[in-house]
Amino acid sequence: MILKTEIEKSAQTVPIHIRPGELLLLSEVCLTHYPPKTKLLIVTDAIVKELWGQALSESLKQAGYLVYTYTIPVGESAKCLSVMESVLRFALEAGLSRQDAMIAFGGGVVGDLTGFCAATYFRGIDYIQVPTTLLAQVDSAIGGKVGVNLHHAKNGLGAFYQPRFIWMDPTLVKHLPCRQLRAGLAEVIKYSLIETSIQEACGSPESLSHTPPLFTVLQKIVVKEEAVEKDCLDTELCELISRCVALKTAVVSLDEQEKTGLRALLNLGHTFAHAYEELSGYQDLLHGEAVSLGLVKAAQLASILGHFSSSHVETIIAMLEKFQLPTVPSPSLEPLKLIALMRQDKKATGNGIRFVLPDSDIGRVRIVDGVDEHQILNILS
Ligand SMILES: NC(=O)c1ccc[n+]([C@@H]2O[C@H](COP(=O)([O-])OP(=O)(O)OC[C@H]3O[C@@H](n4cnc5c(N)ncnc54)[C@H](O)[C@@H]3O)[C@@H](O)[C@H]2O)c1
Ligand SMILES: [Zn+2]
Repeated sequence: MILKTEIEKSAQTVPIHIRPGELLLLSEVCLTHYPPKTKLLIVTDAIVKELWGQALSESLKQAGYLVYTYTIPVGESAKCLSVMESVLRFALEAGLSRQDAMIAFGGGVVGDLTGFCAATYFRGIDYIQVPTTLLAQVDSAIGGKVGVNLHHAKNGLGAFYQPRFIWMDPTLVKHLPCRQLRAGLAEVIKYSLIETSIQEACGSPESLSHTPPLFTVLQKIVVKEEAVEKDCLDTELCELISRCVALKTAVVSLDEQEKTGLRALLNLGHTFAHAYEELSGYQDLLHGEAVSLGLVKAAQLASILGHFSSSHVETIIAMLEKFQLPTVPSPSLEPLKLIALMRQDKKATGNGIRFVLPDSDIGRVRIVDGVDEHQILNILS
């Protein structure tokens, strides 16, 4: 299956190529954008480099490019100003000019950091997103949000900066540890819970008008005992990824900079998730695991506010449990501290903490402001 979609922007269109098994054909597409002898700086992390770094670099060299590789440490702590500076210094020493480009080859950490390096180097040079985790393929590589963490402020420094194009090979994600794969599935489940609202807001363009709904597709996946075995997802992965990509591109095309409220729908579960992540010091919970907890809390809050049935809440919990995602937070995550963190969230408004909450049916959400903090405390306790 070869899929191509694109984000439409006023000034630019961002092609998204979904090409199973064709990572190395990236070099051919590069030739349609950049002439040979262009300098390409691959930014990657140590794990991804070990798996495919050399093969990718060789294929680009064979296409005639001058290829450099910079390897950052593995993990969230690399998404910081000091690593950013080291990438930029490396680019400067390699002599990258504004005609050259960076390639973000890795998960969301590499993608966010490299995109921000590209956004700022010489006031902005091209970059290409080549996401390798499920989370990055369905979410972080799309939409142009790039940045680094600023001390304790997650994504405290950043920009909206679109890549020249996005090249994704869904077969790469089968190399992920199961825990990372499941974390990506939490975002896929999130998309299934906002799908109807996105379709309605975007006027249901053909790329989004799928039957059955994404939630039903996920329900039909049979998970073998023990884990989300990658084989059981083999056939479904491509469909899951392309459907999430279609949803996110539709949203970003209409609300690139989160101004109309549409892009905010992608934050379902995230007000809770960010607080859980921060309170656990970004140590014990992966982002997708925090999202899983956040989806449960958002559904429970919607239920006590009276616009989502408790049986729907149970259906969502069952879905998350099927993919072995956490649904009950550790008791050490104290409710009062969580609320304090939520008040500081970027999404907090003058009218209290802002939530995106399920609304009436699975697939539908609405933005809710001014929720009584006692009710929030109620579901956190
Ligand atoms: N920009 C956005 O819109 C956006 C959206 C969501 C999340 N994010 C950011 O994304 C980051 C999380 O991304 P992530 O979950 O991809 O984490 P990550 O980049 O840390 O990758 C997770 C782990 O998987 C490894 N890995 C990557 N590809 C692999 C592969 N194919 N096989 C085996 N191992 C592989 C990495 O080395 C790493 O150890 C966070 O910083 C988050 O803030 C950004
Ligand atoms: Zn997320």
